[in-house]
Amino acid sequence: NGKYLLLPSMLLALYWLRWQHRSVVEVTNEPILEFKQGSPERAALQKALNNLKGKTEAIPCMVGGEEVWTSDIRYQLSPFNHSHKVAKFCYADKDLLNKAINAALAVRKEWDLRPIQDRAQIFFKAADMLSGPRRAEVLAKAMIGQGKTVIQAEIDAAAELIDFFRFNAKYAVELESSQPLSVPSSTNSMVYRGLEGFVAAVSPFNFTAIGGNLAGTPALMGNVVLWKPSDTALLSSFAVYRILLEAGLPPNVIQFVPADGPVFGDTVTSSEYFCGLNFTGSVPTFKRLWKQVSENLDRYRTFPRLAGECGGKNFHFVHSSADVPSVVNGTLRSAFEYSGQKCSACSRLYAPDSLWPQIKEKLLEEHGKIKVGDPAQDFGTFFSAVIDDKSFARIKKWLQHAKTSPNLSILAGGNCDDTVGYFIEPCIVESKDPKDPIMEEEIFGPVLTVFVYPEKQYKEILQLIDTTSPYGLTGAVFAQDKNVIQEARKLLRNAAGNFYINDKSTGAVVAQQPFGGSRASGERPGSPHYLLRWTSPQAIKETHVPLRDWKYAYML
Ligand SMILES: *[C@@H]1O[C@H](CO)[C@@H](O)[C@H](O)[C@H]1NC(C)=O
Ligand SMILES: *[C@@H]1O[C@H](CO)[C@@H](O)[C@H](O)[C@H]1NC(C)=O
Ligand SMILES: *[C@@H]1O[C@H](CO)[C@@H](O)[C@H](O)[C@H]1NC(C)=O
Ligand SMILES: *[C@@H]1O[C@H](CO)[C@@H](O)[C@H](O)[C@H]1NC(C)=O
Ligand SMILES: *[C@@H]1O[C@H](CO)[C@@H](O)[C@H](O)[C@H]1NC(C)=O
Repeated sequence: NGKYLLLPSMLLALYWLRWQHRSVVEVTNEPILEFKQGSPERAALQKALNNLKGKTEAIPCMVGGEEVWTSDIRYQLSPFNHSHKVAKFCYADKDLLNKAINAALAVRKEWDLRPIQDRAQIFFKAADMLSGPRRAEVLAKAMIGQGKTVIQAEIDAAAELIDFFRFNAKYAVELESSQPLSVPSSTNSMVYRGLEGFVAAVSPFNFTAIGGNLAGTPALMGNVVLWKPSDTALLSSFAVYRILLEAGLPPNVIQFVPADGPVFGDTVTSSEYFCGLNFTGSVPTFKRLWKQVSENLDRYRTFPRLAGECGGKNFHFVHSSADVPSVVNGTLRSAFEYSGQKCSACSRLYAPDSLWPQIKEKLLEEHGKIKVGDPAQDFGTFFSAVIDDKSFARIKKWLQHAKTSPNLSILAGGNCDDTVGYFIEPCIVESKDPKDPIMEEEIFGPVLTVFVYPEKQYKEILQLIDTTSPYGLTGAVFAQDKNVIQEARKLLRNAAGNFYINDKSTGAVVAQQPFGGSRASGERPGSPHYLLRWTSPQAIKETHVPLRDWKYAYML
């Protein structure tokens, strides 16, 4: 009878092997769902949104595998209805952070020794959970907590996060298979070790995917992590954290520690075991952390790795040969989606005088149709409130600047109202001065400034674009003329890490437009080489030929 069982069990074994190595099988980008009327995903999302109505979730710190509360209680408010407290949480203090460091270090060796295949499976599993049963929950939490519309939540908390988990897991497994040459006399191999210490991950509010990835990628590579999520994205961050645990991540690998920024920074950078920082946020904060690291350099057991992504001042350059509808609709999306709170949002538009009347007319016409409101009540909302009172106050100042500066005129919008939520109308400003601060500094809100230039001077304008801001994140060129595109590519080579031709400056997809970045923008994730930052490769040589001499031939 044995031989009848042999074939099925061999097939089973083969299948099992293939499943174990399924990252070798192609990984593709997660499809973006449409949420049309009557679709199952829409029904699931609506149900999840209803579940959150009026609710306040209690979110503890997770340290040493346990839920911990301190007395420093905080709340996360819904941006479009600030009387709705969506989460109650607490700040970890210095003591608790030090406990978290020790708890993480206690499991480091074991975690680092786990085969990469095992670690990768956890991330594949988490991606499958996000893609299926947990999608609606995480989307709803990103919508209510971070003020995202359906599509903005979908491309972030579902699609991008799933892509990060799957592609990084695949890249990690592939990295393992990139091995050095072996020769008859020796076998050589590379071991990709986690860093010897802990990695601190500081994530921003604007992308749920970044939070999961900032903490997740170093963990995938065998590191232990202290994750400080953003105060204004706790609800979705904690959901992602729980999904990772349910997918099999051992509890101590990532410690979940909301905290005051400076307290967190001071505590982690003063530990001798600090070995890496994965940061997304502002330039001043990143510089401050970098300085602290350099001051503490003598303490560390290893040179810490610092990776930071720090914002942008992204441009749309329009040449007179451009396709006007693409310019208009691309600019509306890029400047105003998610209230301009993306690192890649377009905030300066350079238009030739010959096309400007046409562009302006359409821009204003479409602007009038933009709905700003509650994205959970009304799916027709194009964008919602900005994240919090601080953002609101900062952007309001820019609106004030636009109203009072003689070089600036507001073409549309300009009002804001924070009685219910932190609402800011989409605002289009025209500037007569291409060096006005509004054209140079990051605003991080729904404010677009246009500079109209004499058509013939486009080369000077390309140079101007290159030298206007300290950032170098994203930018777009709209032109049908191939020579102009070539010129723009040369002149703007260092002005953008993600460069778009006849497309808007936002919307990079993992593995398709692996994210770049330069100058004060820092670096951005999205490609295999980022993984190398969180690993410490070890080369091992095993010799098969016994050494029988210490003298060399020429000496005899
Ligand atoms: C805002 O949230 C509060 C508390 O959950 C609720 O009572 C109120 O109805 C909400 N307001 C709006 C405009 O949705
Ligand atoms: C740092 O965080 C980003 C998220 O912004 C993540 O995608 C990236 O992989 C991390 N960097 C490294 C080197 O792991
Ligand atoms: C832009 O998009 C709108 C609606 O999505 C469409 O009606 C319009 O024709 C498009 N083109 C221009 C130039 O605005
Ligand atoms: C997210 O927001 C932070 C500011 O909190 C900014 O520095 C960063 O560039 C943004 N990242 C993305 C991907 O939008
Ligand atoms: C207005 O712009 C001109 C350059 O175009 C500049 O010299 C002047 O200082 C600006 N005025 C203000 C108030 O910024």
